[in-house]
Amino acid sequence: MEKVVLAFSSGLDTSVCIKLLQEKYDMEVITVCVDVGQPEEEVERSKLVAHEIGVSKHYTIDAKEEFTTEFIFKAVKANAIYEGYPLSTALARPLIAMKIVEVAEKEDAVAISHGCTGKGNDQFRFESTIRSASNCQIIAPVRDLNLTRSEEITYAETHGIPLPVFSNYSIDENLWGRSIEGDILEDPMVEMPEDAFNWTRSSADAPDEPQILEIEFEEGVPVALDGKKLDPVDIIKECNRIGGLHGIGRVDIMEDRIIGLKSRENYETPGAILIITAHQTLEQIVLTREELKFASNVSETYSELIYNGLWHEPLREDLDCLINNMQKRVSGIVRVRLNKGNLRILGRKSPFSLYQEQAVSFEDKETDQREIVGMIKNYGIQAACYQNICKKDNS
Ligand code: ARG
Repeated sequence: MEKVVLAFSSGLDTSVCIKLLQEKYDMEVITVCVDVGQPEEEVERSKLVAHEIGVSKHYTIDAKEEFTTEFIFKAVKANAIYEGYPLSTALARPLIAMKIVEVAEKEDAVAISHGCTGKGNDQFRFESTIRSASNCQIIAPVRDLNLTRSEEITYAETHGIPLPVFSNYSIDENLWGRSIEGDILEDPMVEMPEDAFNWTRSSADAPDEPQILEIEFEEGVPVALDGKKLDPVDIIKECNRIGGLHGIGRVDIMEDRIIGLKSRENYETPGAILIITAHQTLEQIVLTREELKFASNVSETYSELIYNGLWHEPLREDLDCLINNMQKRVSGIVRVRLNKGNLRILGRKSPFSLYQEQAVSFEDKETDQREIVGMIKNYGIQAACYQNICKKDNS
């Protein structure tokens, strides 16, 4: 029998895929669960469920550290936000796909499989990455068989496939964020029920007492909280915990998918909102006006590449070179205040600050104010000419 390697999460789609690959495609199935910071129970459950359904081999790959340093940190430096959503699912897909390719090579598999449907973004992200690194055939059983979610549930029930604790939502989770979609949320006027949140408290349930937090950055990435140095993975986890506790990071948007469909998405991304907001605050004091303007365009292009599944596009690497150079000066401390869903900036400082307190001060006498007069005189001269020529008669 030919071997297929399946990206496995133990959710409905991928659980159904194991059986479909065995029954309808007649293949030997090897599953891989790539740990990018989804709940530990899910990683454990994947191992159990894979064996219960009957795979020939199951791999668990801990990629949390690599996900943080090679993906999340790049996203922080680029302020990677798509239509208001700090990219999380989209960020992890290329890494998961690369890990699957590694296993497929090792196992001499002829095919790689994923559980994506034909309507979403993840099929693009997985397949573009796989194609950039492997000649394996790609099989997407749910899409191939045009299955609906309820058809999958019926298939699972009639084939002894254990289903996860029942949730009607489609949820994807990694270290950088949690996305919740589907079921009643498909109606954009239906409010996300409180019990569907898992990482964040509502502002009503958040502590009354505000928390002041200092986030330290080195070359564009967070390295310490309140003066305490933390490893990359731990600092992200801690920011998620603190932000979530104070009700930061709930995002409810209408999102434009790659294929053009609008979809209603809910995210919980407390750490990402906290870190990116602080990072932008620090950039404001160290980057020049020209750099900031350019960086905001770079950020938009960079985010679109990630969202659209084009992590391996050379432009992304080109932009990383530029971003890394700019970020060499993005070091310093940002102080924020968290309270009941509010994130307020209290202060910022950096050894690379371009801020000249003395020159800008209202009390400064050293800079002679009168010297500016020559420059002001011709300022806006084109607009003045235009107004004189074109608007005079109409007034
Ligand atoms: N719409 C989001 C994105 O494309 C999240 C999709 C997550 N997938 C899921 N099965 N919930 O980035």
